[in-house]
Amino acid sequence: MTHDHALILREILRGYALPLHGDHGVVHWARVLENGVRVAAANGGDADVVRLFALFHDARRVNEDVDPGHGVRGGDLARALRGTLVHLDDARFDVLYEACALHTDGHTTGDPTLLACWDADRLDLGRVGIVPNPELLCTDMARELLPWAHNRAVAAHVPTEVLASWGMTPADSVRRRWA
Ligand SMILES: [Fe+2]
Repeated sequence: MTHDHALILREILRGYALPLHGDHGVVHWARVLENGVRVAAANGGDADVVRLFALFHDARRVNEDVDPGHGVRGGDLARALRGTLVHLDDARFDVLYEACALHTDGHTTGDPTLLACWDADRLDLGRVGIVPNPELLCTDMARELLPWAHNRAVAAHVPTEVLASWGMTPADSVRRRWA
């Protein structure tokens, strides 16, 4: 069953505590998606899970700094939506959950989908003034993508096509809240 990402985003944002345009907000999620699908195409990761990771991994942050447990809370939200908006069998869901729960723990080995998710997020660290260390990336593809992804992170690139696929315009993404 295919996922309705626009409906998932709407559900996430109903309970999202931070400004949409924040460092960990919607445009970051969209760049994570674009990074992650490229890594997954190269390393055999599951692109559908990567797309869901982009939406859920920071969905239940409560601050823009160190926020212990936010990855687990994002995974828990995905779990709460299983059967309604999230349609993954147990094995694929477990990967999504683990990707969210562990995404700030610095791991560099594991299932290809996990690696694609974690690299996707790390490739966007330039938005908060951090140059990703290639040695702390998980995959060769992420190291190859680093100059491209880092430039986009620093420039606050807005992936309009991803936003459109989520039912959102660039103007929506800079609002403090979304209906
Ligand atoms: Fe993130």
